[in-house]
Amino acid sequence: MNINPQFNSKQVKAVAHANIALVKYWGKRSVEKNLPAVGSVSLTLDALKTITSVAFDEELHSDVFILNDDVVTGKQADKISAFADLMVGTERPKIRVESDNNFPTGAGLASSASAFAALAKAMNEACSLGLDDKMLSIFARQGSGSAARSIFGGFAEMNLGDDDSGNGDYAHQLHDENYWDIRLLAAVVSTGPKEIGSTEGMNRTAETSPFYNAWVQSSPNDIKEMKAALAHKDFEKLGTLAEHSAMKMHGLALSANPSILYWQAASLESIQRVWGLRKQGLPAYITMDAGPQVKVITLPQYANEVKNALIELPGVSNVIEAKPGPGAYILKD
Ligand code: DP6
Repeated sequence: MNINPQFNSKQVKAVAHANIALVKYWGKRSVEKNLPAVGSVSLTLDALKTITSVAFDEELHSDVFILNDDVVTGKQADKISAFADLMVGTERPKIRVESDNNFPTGAGLASSASAFAALAKAMNEACSLGLDDKMLSIFARQGSGSAARSIFGGFAEMNLGDDDSGNGDYAHQLHDENYWDIRLLAAVVSTGPKEIGSTEGMNRTAETSPFYNAWVQSSPNDIKEMKAALAHKDFEKLGTLAEHSAMKMHGLALSANPSILYWQAASLESIQRVWGLRKQGLPAYITMDAGPQVKVITLPQYANEVKNALIELPGVSNVIEAKPGPGAYILKD
């Protein structure tokens, strides 16, 4: 690893895709170092991406962060500056970071995952750090736990370190994006920002839920079973486990005090619709993150039918279809 960062004034652009957890991360064993309490397994999604450009500028008096064409200040911007400091130290020129998401930010469509994966990738290139994917994943994790997985394409697993150094907490690829064509349909029921972000939600859950230890203890087996489902391309098993992990996470969030409920009426309608389809023999399973959107995992030949069933619901404004997507990469001009 190059410990002498070069501060390139030329703009560097990186792309990273969002990912959906098939086995969920919820809870930290260190809040300070952002070390997850449970491992996770994810699918990187081709249709949801962030493009981030970075450029160092000696003329700037402070860092500049632009998100979807708007200048962002406050906590969100401070987090970007802190992340740049983490990667290359505080003795650096000010940086201009421009980020564009092709999906609604902060609405439970995992924007922080693609954001920090893209930023880590762009910083690595802009400063000629020469970091490998494992190190990029370690850095991305410190921006957002789920971002560690978006460094990789296809199916990824987040490892848990056996100490609190953080050196063992990174993701690795299980299978690349060409391994198995499964589909994820995200039913957008609300595009407004969420009420309780995932960080706050999981911390409150860990502190107050009487079921939190059971959640942590049951996770390794979920991960083992999910890896077996992937290895055997057993779709029913994958779907059943993914739905169970999501429901267990949301049940856990409900058991926090005060309760955390990410669902809206249209979320419940979407879930019931998908369960209805499944009763008719269609292989479709739901998963949800820290927001009201319902995401449906299915196989390519059923994607249209699921999409049509969801878009008919009055509370669903849009359905985004995604396939397995690539890992983070640099965009050449
Ligand atoms: C429900 O990665 O956003 O999407 O590490 O605090 O930034 P922080 O949390 P974040 O949490 C993701 C939670 C989840 C499940 C998952 O992606 O595994």
